[in-house]
Amino acid sequence: MITLGIESSCDETSVAVVRNGREVLSNIIATQIEVHQKFGGVVPEIASRKHVEAFNPVLDQALEEANISLEDIDIIGATRGPGLIGALLVGLSGAKALSFALKKPFIGVNHMDGHVCANYLSHPELEPPFTGLIVSGGHTYLIDVTDYTTFELIGRTIDDAAGEAFDKVARAMGIGYPGGPIIDKLSKKGNPKAMEFPRIWLKKEEFDFSFSGLKTAVINELNTLHQKGISIPVEDVCASFQQAVIDVLATKTMALAKKKGRDTIVLSGGVSANSGLREEMETRCKKEGLKLYYPELKYCTDNGAMIASATYYNYQSGNYDTLGMAEANLGLE
Ligand code: KG4
Ligand code: ZN
Repeated sequence: MITLGIESSCDETSVAVVRNGREVLSNIIATQIEVHQKFGGVVPEIASRKHVEAFNPVLDQALEEANISLEDIDIIGATRGPGLIGALLVGLSGAKALSFALKKPFIGVNHMDGHVCANYLSHPELEPPFTGLIVSGGHTYLIDVTDYTTFELIGRTIDDAAGEAFDKVARAMGIGYPGGPIIDKLSKKGNPKAMEFPRIWLKKEEFDFSFSGLKTAVINELNTLHQKGISIPVEDVCASFQQAVIDVLATKTMALAKKKGRDTIVLSGGVSANSGLREEMETRCKKEGLKLYYPELKYCTDNGAMIASATYYNYQSGNYDTLGMAEANLGLE
């Protein structure tokens, strides 16, 4: 089964060709990061326009690299949400047009499902069930994955997503966008214990997260240092902030695996690229005798291959859509 996967929910236009949900034949990504960099975040209207420009060239390149023609495609999938509505509509319209012209099934895929499926591309032996932590720029989900197309959402952020906190803290220090990879790199040279930033546990909502208080604490510390005329110890701030995020993510993920009796933990989403998070989870999983998986770096952030994989598994489960799929639901997930 040859699946075409299309991703356009945020600032990456990506089209991929994947065989049987696991084997990536091509995965072309046109990133808009440079365009949004000067604004310190994604500007939705610019993102939509850039997707329109990029879609056809990215599609052509994906087919060429996979060495297939349009007629070889069996199923077509695109991200249907969550994401920026104008951006999503570009990929969805492209997918629906292809489905109509080629008379092949169309599936609208949940972006978070896609992030989970990124792991199937990197790990042929991985199968559900498992505990999942999806940490991206827009979402922080703690989930119990029961099969290839179903997960139970157990915990989520009540304010900022983990990646959003990385991006906002980086912006406050003026060190660049997106903040995650920059903070990750600078943290390696800093002391994670240099500053005492809060860990927000939300005792009653055992598996929910909150990162806006931490972000504010970091910004307050930066202001205090600034007022005192002390130069910002950027590497120490990065390391201390990053460790505060990691402690909460790791502790809650381990607790959910224990509660559900799962022997496997799977990380995904842009923040799963974080080297500190990976190391911390490696250490904790080793100690508890759990298996740990995370995607190869190229599949952590948004890409079409993960959407193609999710499309394939949805098709296998009989979940396909009509071309009249209600876009009205896009923003409500
Ligand atoms: O999954 P993704 O590409 O897009 C969304 O669906 O949001 O995630 C992007 C997020 C950004 O907030 C970025 O700062 C963060 O992932 N990120 C990282 C790292 N690489 C990307 N955060 C921490 N450490 C990293 N190495
Ligand atoms: Zn994403």
